[in-house]
Amino acid sequence: MKRLNGKTCLVTGAGKGIGRATCLRLAEEGAHVAVTDIEDDDGKAVCDSITEQGGTAHYWHLDVTDPDAVRKVFDAVADRFGQIDVLVNNAGIAGANKPTHEIDPEEWRKVIEVNVNAVFYCTRAAIPHLKKAGGGSIVNLSSIYGLVGAPDLPPYHASKGAVRLMSKTDALLYASEGIRVNSVHPGFIWTPLVAELAEASEEGAEAFRKGLDDLHPIGHVGAPEDIAAGVAYLASDDAKFVTGSELVIDGGYTAR
Ligand SMILES: NC(=O)c1ccc[n+]([C@@H]2O[C@H](COP(=O)([O-])OP(=O)(O)OC[C@H]3O[C@@H](n4cnc5c(N)ncnc54)[C@H](O)[C@@H]3O)[C@@H](O)[C@H]2O)c1
Repeated sequence: MKRLNGKTCLVTGAGKGIGRATCLRLAEEGAHVAVTDIEDDDGKAVCDSITEQGGTAHYWHLDVTDPDAVRKVFDAVADRFGQIDVLVNNAGIAGANKPTHEIDPEEWRKVIEVNVNAVFYCTRAAIPHLKKAGGGSIVNLSSIYGLVGAPDLPPYHASKGAVRLMSKTDALLYASEGIRVNSVHPGFIWTPLVAELAEASEEGAEAFRKGLDDLHPIGHVGAPEDIAAGVAYLASDDAKFVTGSELVIDGGYTAR
């Protein structure tokens, strides 16, 4: 049974990595997928993959840090597909990877703008559409770095901790209107975001990846599809009693 038949799902930062895998999975589950990103070629390629498999998708250019553009694109998605039922706040950046005292305020603000403020802009724009649809689901990509500390990426940790609690507050604010809000907490997932950290590392990409594998009790980093499966669950009615929760998909990273 396709769990998302007839639902419209909007995914931000959907051109690569977890966003891309999520779009493909949501389409497999029967959703109409609104693919949005700042990298147009990547986003259009995701739509092509979905339509080749018989699914329904359309691409919109969307920089999530532009609140006016967010509103316009969300309205355009609702116009095209009739409504919006699911928002996946996936767009995110790793940002400056230096000790806290070496980070410029501008570097700090950039991460907060993309990873935190834009989740607010997108949630704010989505809520009227979800209400109109009679309810819905918002899935926010946090991280293991929103649950536990590590001696790296200070602004990223701050941003993902914020997303975890924004999800709970919105879960409480909108529960009575049938809108569920949950956060997802991936361990390290091999995506362009992590590959770039590996390339920039002092020990070299291969040693970096081996080090990451060893951090996960299950023995390896995750794949984007591992996270897409969790997002599809939270988007669907299988999770109809799930709100304000934290879905940890991390190969055991935070179990210790
Ligand atoms: N990869 C991991 O190990 C991991 C772990 C935990 C959480 N996450 C989170 O999952 C999400 C996706 O991560 P990923 O690894 O797939 O990243 P990625 O870098 O592979 O892809 C991110 C996508 O977001 C887009 N993007 C960046 N800035 C944007 C903006 N301003 N507006 C719109 N789109 C923008 C990029 O173009 C890209 O397509 C992020 O929120 C990330 O923090 C990732």
